[in-house]
Amino acid sequence: MLGETKQRGSAERYVRQTLKQLAGYKPIVPLEVLGEKAGLSVTELIKLDGNENPYGCSPRVQRSLAEYPYLHIYPDPTQSSIRKALASYVNVGEEHIVGGSGSDELIDLALRLFIDPGDGVINCEPTFGMYDFGIMLCDGEVINVPRVDSFAIDVAAVEAAIKPNAKLILVATPNNPTGNLTPRADILRLLDTGLIVLVDEAYYEFSGETVADLVPQYENLIVLRTFSKWAGLAGLRAGYGVFPPRIADLIMKIKTPYNVNIAAQIAIQESLKDVDYLMGTVKAILAERERFRHLLKEFDWIRTYPSDANFLLLALPSVEMALRVDEGLQRKGIFGRYFDKPRLEHCFRISVGKPEHTDAVIRALREIGGGNLATTKNTKYTK
Ligand SMILES: Cc1ncc(COP(=O)(O)O)c(C=O)c1O
Repeated sequence: MLGETKQRGSAERYVRQTLKQLAGYKPIVPLEVLGEKAGLSVTELIKLDGNENPYGCSPRVQRSLAEYPYLHIYPDPTQSSIRKALASYVNVGEEHIVGGSGSDELIDLALRLFIDPGDGVINCEPTFGMYDFGIMLCDGEVINVPRVDSFAIDVAAVEAAIKPNAKLILVATPNNPTGNLTPRADILRLLDTGLIVLVDEAYYEFSGETVADLVPQYENLIVLRTFSKWAGLAGLRAGYGVFPPRIADLIMKIKTPYNVNIAAQIAIQESLKDVDYLMGTVKAILAERERFRHLLKEFDWIRTYPSDANFLLLALPSVEMALRVDEGLQRKGIFGRYFDKPRLEHCFRISVGKPEHTDAVIRALREIGGGNLATTKNTKYTK
């Protein structure tokens, strides 16, 4: 009996060695946990850590979901309605589109489609943490080509880093967490390398810049988008990719059949019938971003990086001050995102919320900024 239990307990020895050591993706913390941490109720929290839309989703989505009578029926595995609606939104043929359970799932599927153990993927840090996590899950090699000081991609360095095992280049534009766009000319140069270029446009509706129109012309271009940010659907998990048709067919083949659940399928369709409303919220967020940036000028110890997205990356004079801002805001129930990552240790990312959220952040920063922070205000930035 004892022997049996021992044997059952040893399942771990069958786990893939590389996954045992995997550092795991550090996701955002749920509202309830944040509330507990701050000693506040969920309604008192100001959540600016996930780049979500503070105005929520379209009222059409809420209504349609409340009235939908067929939750007991599986969703359409061919995604025909959403593929049609998304194709019309993107202005490409339906054969290019595949829906995903958030764009995270499509990052995973694209990596699994192309990457065998040992294959190389070019990743330009600092960038979205799901990329190196996904590459490692496939036992691929992360070929890191660091961004330059402005956080632009170093295209020449990417070209120089291409080795025989390299298959894919990952580009988030605007980049998370740095907020900057990669110019179209740079993406065209990356496409000329012949590797697959996966362009992640999670924040497209905020930047207005896209290369999705190029997908029909390029066999090596993939564009991913999401409804999590502009459309207020982060909780439902709704994303999509624009692929060369042959690649779209293969992604359709390797995905699980019902990867986009019925609520997400309805939400995508209803959001696309309410683009004007949603873009109204995007416009409000963009205006608020600029007001936030302007108000932050009051603090000579905070620098903001340019942003084409719905968040700002703040640079503080030191790691200690970044941590102090993070902790000081948390004590007031305000949650942003600190990244314990190379080149970001002195930074703090904060989503753009409603005007009252900005005002609360500014008030909190005034309190945090007193005392000995002032004495370090001339410290050189450590970028
Ligand atoms: C660059 C980027 N890509 C993808 C995602 C994931 O989006 P989704 O919620 O659609 O999985 C995020 C979310 O933060 C992101 O910042």
